Amino acid sequence: MAEVDPSGIVGLSTYTASENAQQVHVVVPQLREHEAVSAHLRELADEAVASFLEDYAVPSGHAAMPSWLSGTWSATSASEDILGFVLSTTFSPGASTGTTAEVIWYDPKAGALLDWRDLLTDQALPSVADAVVERLQEADIDVDAEEVRDVLDAGDPAVAFTGQGALYLGFDSHTIAVGAAGSPAVALADPAGRGWLSDIGEIALAATLDPQPAAVPETPQVPTRAEVDCTQAHCVALTFDDGPSATTAAGLLDLLAAEEVPATFFVLGSQAQAFPELAARQVAERHEVGNHSWQHPDLSAMSEQAVREELQRTSDVVEGVTGVRPVLLRPPYGATSQTVAGVAAELGMAQAMWNIDTLDWQHRDPAQTVAAARQAGRGSIVLMHDIHPTTIQAVPAVITGLREAGFTFVTVSDLLGQTEPGQTYRQGQ
Ligand code: NI
Repeated sequence: MAEVDPSGIVGLSTYTASENAQQVHVVVPQLREHEAVSAHLRELADEAVASFLEDYAVPSGHAAMPSWLSGTWSATSASEDILGFVLSTTFSPGASTGTTAEVIWYDPKAGALLDWRDLLTDQALPSVADAVVERLQEADIDVDAEEVRDVLDAGDPAVAFTGQGALYLGFDSHTIAVGAAGSPAVALADPAGRGWLSDIGEIALAATLDPQPAAVPETPQVPTRAEVDCTQAHCVALTFDDGPSATTAAGLLDLLAAEEVPATFFVLGSQAQAFPELAARQVAERHEVGNHSWQHPDLSAMSEQAVREELQRTSDVVEGVTGVRPVLLRPPYGATSQTVAGVAAELGMAQAMWNIDTLDWQHRDPAQTVAAARQAGRGSIVLMHDIHPTTIQAVPAVITGLREAGFTFVTVSDLLGQTEPGQTYRQGQ
């Protein structure tokens, strides 16, 4: 398999699963803001350690052959569209040594794990299987053709490309051949010319032969959430204005993540600029981020040029730190005008107001915030402010109360569906 220098991959770190007393040490890569692939890799490392310990652990003080497991990784493909990580382990349960290899393919833009079969066209598998069998027989490795087909259908060979552009397939020992054959692998030349590669496969091949690790996007595009149909479900949108606040944002995000509740944050551009990692986290965790102006003026009292400066600068900063440009504006105080509507339209934003005002900023009383939020009806947009600790304190009970009343939480854009830039919305369906 080709090896790509991983040092250019932005946000790269590693996770180690180890058990020193048992000589077990497995390292896998991690990618900041890419939780789908990072969590999967951690799981694989933990599983490798757990199953090795279960199978081969030697009680301490026992005078058996020492057993050990070591796992390492490399990058085999890297571009803004695809990443391929090779995980390999070597283990010695005593006298002998075995190896395993696996390739994890990941689409960093979609934030989605890929299956190696995604690299191939639907029609490719049978002829790839034939070519694998033929190549192994040429190498005098006795394999069962049926077994090869089974592994390709349902198993987990390590599939990647060589530095010469051949399709590489590696099999763990004892999967398609007897143990004495070791871990058989083949390289099949010209996979593109043979019509085997899907569009994703072509992208992966290009990212192997001409890797662009520095182009891997640091923050993935917002992954598509499980679709909620608000014509069927009773939807409600929680909104939080005036942040992100360094004192409260992280705690609120933790709460929302634990409850799997999407929210909408109308941020000030000045705050997003000061606390970019918090704004980035809001988007990375599938919340919506809207524009709440740069420094919270009464936009309805300002000139067109001043309004444009407030809104454009904020959208530029939000896009810069989160990778996503806001499609919603919430004018401070809900104060809008024809001029504000015109600039919002020009900048591609609908105006999102609210129909449930918790007045959390005024009373600073969690119980009153909870009571006000419970007045929400189907399609309501609930206004809160995440700069007040008393509001964060109210959030768990707000969520529980609305959930018990049968509501499903969505972002404002999901609640409103198709919107018209410049138009004003107070609730959805
Ligand atoms: Ni505000």
